Amino acid sequence: VPTTFLPRRAASSTLPGGLTRPTRRILTLDNIERRSRLTPEVLDHEHLRRGRPVIITDLWKGTSAEALCDPRRAVAALGHMPLPVGPNLIEEFLSGRERLESRWVSMADFHGELLAGCRDMVLEHDVPEELESILPVSPYLDLGDPDDFWVSQMFMAGPGSYLHLHFDMDLRHVVMHQVFGRKRYVLVDAAQTRKLGAGAVSSVPYTSAMYLQNFSPEDLVDFLRYVDAWDCVLQPGEALVIPATTWHYVEYVDVAMSLNVRLARNHHLRYLAEAVPNTSVELQALAHRLRDEDDVDIRARTAFASLVAAATRRYADDDARGAALDQLVADLAGGMGLDIAAPPYQVADVVRRQLLVDQTAAAAPAPALPRRRVSRQATGPRRRR
Ligand SMILES: [Fe+2]
Repeated sequence: VPTTFLPRRAASSTLPGGLTRPTRRILTLDNIERRSRLTPEVLDHEHLRRGRPVIITDLWKGTSAEALCDPRRAVAALGHMPLPVGPNLIEEFLSGRERLESRWVSMADFHGELLAGCRDMVLEHDVPEELESILPVSPYLDLGDPDDFWVSQMFMAGPGSYLHLHFDMDLRHVVMHQVFGRKRYVLVDAAQTRKLGAGAVSSVPYTSAMYLQNFSPEDLVDFLRYVDAWDCVLQPGEALVIPATTWHYVEYVDVAMSLNVRLARNHHLRYLAEAVPNTSVELQALAHRLRDEDDVDIRARTAFASLVAAATRRYADDDARGAALDQLVADLAGGMGLDIAAPPYQVADVVRRQLLVDQTAAAAPAPALPRRRVSRQATGPRRRR
């Protein structure tokens, strides 16, 4: 039986212009395991490599970070912190609009705006020093390739805000810490990609065609069962582990702040993210097979080797390189018999494959004209026949 959460009423639920903020009822499957005292080794072998999400309940327990779970104390400690605030970016990209400039606002002022119903967001902002200095060091920073690095970013928005269903292009495992307020997370394994109508918009190939934010709560729960989703409402102080390549959709239940630690990748995932210029659901499917370095089958190993060979070749220009690698990734997915290359589930699958053909044709050098024999006549004035 799904669990129901009702958004907490904010201080004011009236938007400018006298509109009332819709309070969305959240019906969640609440089916993600919660664990405590999770060592890096257990996290790595039981969750990251196997693509199994988990909520870690005690990472901040007994540390100074715990105080930030109370929004009033967080505003008191960090209210002066300047934050870049802007519209929902993926929504802008899906609509084909250009990225708008962020405005800088103090954290305290933005918190007040969100309570009053503002729908702007802080997205993927590098965690500022004043916040980082309060946090305990993550125990998972030594996971992954020692040559790779980790990244940490923060997010802040209010009820009614969401992040469209997508996967992350950098192919990192993510530990998402909930600072204050609650957020609902839906996660879908990359093995389910064909059900998500992905990649039809070439500028945002990492997004699904499904607008989960517009589904009724009941339709959404039915759909989540169809795609075998994981679903939870993350509480302040908890951390959700999102394994690399996993689709995610996020809804803000309250005015909420969170921050992630994007872990160092294994050698294969880092190479795919950095050496292949464009992302795609075919690349996601290949990465899904390379997530556990100790369990890479011969076909995935061979596919990776041919990708390395192609990526180190010389090309006429960046477009030719991008088109050749995109085509190769699609061919490898087909050769490996991955689901993503099987007959289409949705029109989006057809559109995506046609975009690939068009891109390859556009990047190909113009066909050479048949050679003409040069004669004296040819250099002189043209004769009419
Ligand atoms: Fe993401």
